[in-house]
Amino acid sequence: KKLVILISGRGSNMEAIVRAAIPGAKIAAVIANKPTAAGLAFARAHGIEAEVVDHTAYADRDAFDNALAIAIDRHEPDLVVLAGFMRVLGDAFVRRYEGRMINIHPSLLPSFPGLHTHRKAIESGVRLHGATVHFVTPTLDCGPIIAQAAVPVGADDTEASLAAKVLVQEHVIYPQAVRWFVEGRLRVEGNRVTVIDADL
Ligand code: GRF
Repeated sequence: KKLVILISGRGSNMEAIVRAAIPGAKIAAVIANKPTAAGLAFARAHGIEAEVVDHTAYADRDAFDNALAIAIDRHEPDLVVLAGFMRVLGDAFVRRYEGRMINIHPSLLPSFPGLHTHRKAIESGVRLHGATVHFVTPTLDCGPIIAQAAVPVGADDTEASLAAKVLVQEHVIYPQAVRWFVEGRLRVEGNRVTVIDADL
């Protein structure tokens, strides 16, 4: 199965997926929307085609989305992986990849969609926080959930310490979710995902 991974910055989730060396998964390309994305260097160092579709080079959101789709489709991926990708993608783009595009969000969805999730978790006084891997649908951060991991929120936790704990778990569940997809174990009925014979 061919993967294209989209990043915007550090790319630590992309790195975790690369390092997982998932059997049957070929990473055809890493594409960043920013030329400064540090993850591009990691991809290149691992012999993975690394490209930039710079969103500042396009007049509007649709033009960027179209250019990104063209760059992605050249690789004919089975799966598009959003990994720390910080652009909101338009409905037409999302529908083009629906069912084969996944994202990781740093909260236990449906809690805390959107940005600043760790700050929201601390301010809300939750005792559990975490990360969610989900299929991407036109409604932001709302698609069928594939995997989640929870971390405890301590009284002395800061936004930074909580983000660090969550990130460790992201690097566990994202490769796992990609593996399940590549192995054809994911069944989606409505908003529910079933993992067939998952090696949990
Ligand atoms: C992570 O918190 C991830 O959940 C969010 O972007 C942050 C950076 O991810 N989507 P990465 O290190 O660029 O993969």
